[in-house]
Order: sequence, then structure tokens, then C-alpha cells
Amino acid sequence: MITPNSDHRKNVLMKLPANFYKPLAAGAPAPFRELPARSERMIHFFPPQLEKVHAKIPALISQVDVILGNLEDAIPADKKEEARKGFIKVAKENEFGSTGLWTRVNALNSPWVLDDISEIVGGVGDKLDVMMVPKVEGPWDIHFVDQYLSLLEAKHSIKKPILIHAILETAEGVKNVEEIAAASPRMQGMSLGPADLAASRRMKTTRVGGGHPSYGVLADPSDDGGPRSFVQQDLWHYTVAKMVDACVANGLSAFYGPFGDIADLDACEAQFRNAFLMGCVGAWSLHPSQIAVAKKVFSPDPEEVKFAMRILEAMPDGTGAVMLDGKMQDDATWKQAKVMVDLAKQVSQKDPELKSTYGL
Ligand code: GLV
Ligand code: MG
Repeated sequence: MITPNSDHRKNVLMKLPANFYKPLAAGAPAPFRELPARSERMIHFFPPQLEKVHAKIPALISQVDVILGNLEDAIPADKKEEARKGFIKVAKENEFGSTGLWTRVNALNSPWVLDDISEIVGGVGDKLDVMMVPKVEGPWDIHFVDQYLSLLEAKHSIKKPILIHAILETAEGVKNVEEIAAASPRMQGMSLGPADLAASRRMKTTRVGGGHPSYGVLADPSDDGGPRSFVQQDLWHYTVAKMVDACVANGLSAFYGPFGDIADLDACEAQFRNAFLMGCVGAWSLHPSQIAVAKKVFSPDPEEVKFAMRILEAMPDGTGAVMLDGKMQDDATWKQAKVMVDLAKQVSQKDPELKSTYGL
């Protein structure tokens, strides 16, 4: 008897390359071959069921890179329909310009998701950039949303494909992260969902993201018997690294998700910065005070950008080796510099004041 191993199953489940970019329904738009390059330093969550929040949307649009109407967790069960209708109203009443318009729909096994997706695509599918899907466990979840979106796009004559963003927040999802990233040309990226992931993994924390005072490393005892230092470690390091590799290998963007302690902006900044340094392009902002933190962290440092520009100028064709301020530069550091300068250019399109700071 032949027992398929996991590699065998992967090969069987992969689509033929020629079919990967075909629309999944007659009349649906063709998927993007390359994702639109946009600054996405913060995905700002708002509760669309609250009428008083609607008045603040125009001001938020000008401040943030992405605005997201949340329909899932944090919206009470008896307000789910109001939230959906509120999101459609906000999407219709505002112009978003270069700011991304996203929604987070309810989980795929919930009683609300079918109407979330169909009413939103039917109502404002031509304005929606990205649909965030929670609790994604494997490529099968993406395939379902992909097919359903294609049918709805065809039905409502949507011209631009709606992209999918998966939240990585279950142990099974983390195990299948590479297959999720490669599941569809609609995949835009992924966010770490530390709250649901902690519950799914049976981690012993009640916090939404960030560190834990008991997770760390104790220094060896010293000969003089003096006090041993204990240094807190990043609980999310492994998952963020795994997510960044899966995303980048498939041309997607990786994001740190929520930081729940709204009052502790220093800890929020430290967590966002770890994610940024490891390759994430942005994080969620759950409160207006976190917008500035994300902007500060996910915009590259002006001094680093200036140094990166010097590397590019010193090595016009990106090869060879040169010394700059006593530091060796070669093809690899040229590529690092290019990442930095490209990001600075992208961010400058959204933030004219940063453009002059970078000297672009
Ligand atoms: C986000 O949805 C989380 O569960 O952390
Ligand atoms: Mg969650």
C-alpha cells in the first residue's frame, strides 16, 4: 500500500502553473501577477457599528496607511449586522485615495461570514482592497474564500481583484503557514494574531501580544554569588520569523498584529520594532495613540536611509566591494541598502514630510 507522505500530498495539491493565475469564475477579474506596492505601516481598526466613529473616519483616512472595519472579535454578537451595514456605509460615503480600505470578516465557521462576504462585495466590492480572514488553518480556507470572492466579483462586475490577508492565530495555521502563503494569487499578506494563537497553543499568558515577565533567560550564577540578571525574551520571535519567511518567499507582506496594552506605548513600540527589524512591514493600531508608534517604527530611520543611499551611489552596478566609514560593503549590503531606500520611497509617497527628511 502506498501511504502518501506530506511532500507527495503537497505535489498532488499544487495547481498547474498555467492555471494558477486564471480567474476562478467566468467574468471575475484576473488576479494580480504582482501585488500593488503601497505603504502599509499600520492597519487601523475601527468598530463600524458605532455611529459616532463614522464622523472621525475622514480624519483617520488622512492619517493612516490602511483603515479596517472590524466585523469579528470585539464586535458583540448582537451587533454583527450593524457592524457590516456600518462598514458598507462608511465605504460608500468616503473617498480613500492612497489609503487602503480593508475589512476583517467573521470566522469561516461562524453564522455571519457568508453574509459578511456577499453583502460587502455586493455593496462596496469596487472600493474594497483587502479582506482579512481570521483563524486561517490551512490552504483550504483560502481556496474557499478565493472561489466565493470570484463568484461574487463576477456577479457584481467588480473590475479589480479583492486581495486576501490571513491572520495566523492557530497552531494548525502556523504549521501550515507556507501552504497558506502559496494558496492563491489573491494572498496579500499575513498578520500574527497573538491572542487567539496563545489560546490555541495553550500558552500561559492572558496578554494580547507583547512580552511576559516570566519568559526569559537567567544568567549563570557568578563566583561571588551576586545577584543573577534575568532578561525577558520575545515570546513571538519564532512565529514572526516563520511567518516572515513564508510571506516573503511568496511575495507577500508580513505584519505584527495587535498590541493590547493601549496605555504602554513603550512596550508597544518595542514589540513593533522587533517585528520591523525581522522583516514585517506594519502592525495593527487598535487605538489612535498607536498610529504614531507604528509610523515611527515602520518608517525607516533617516540616518540609515542616508547611509543606504551612499552605498547605492558608491556601487552603481551593485557589485564589487567598497569601504564606507570603515565598514565593508558588497553585493549583499547593496541589496540591504536597496530594501531600505525602496521602503523610504514608498513611505514618502504617503508622507511628504518624510520625503524631505530622507532627502529624496
Ligand atoms: C487577533 O485577532 C488576535 O487574536 O491576536
Ligand atoms: Mg484573533
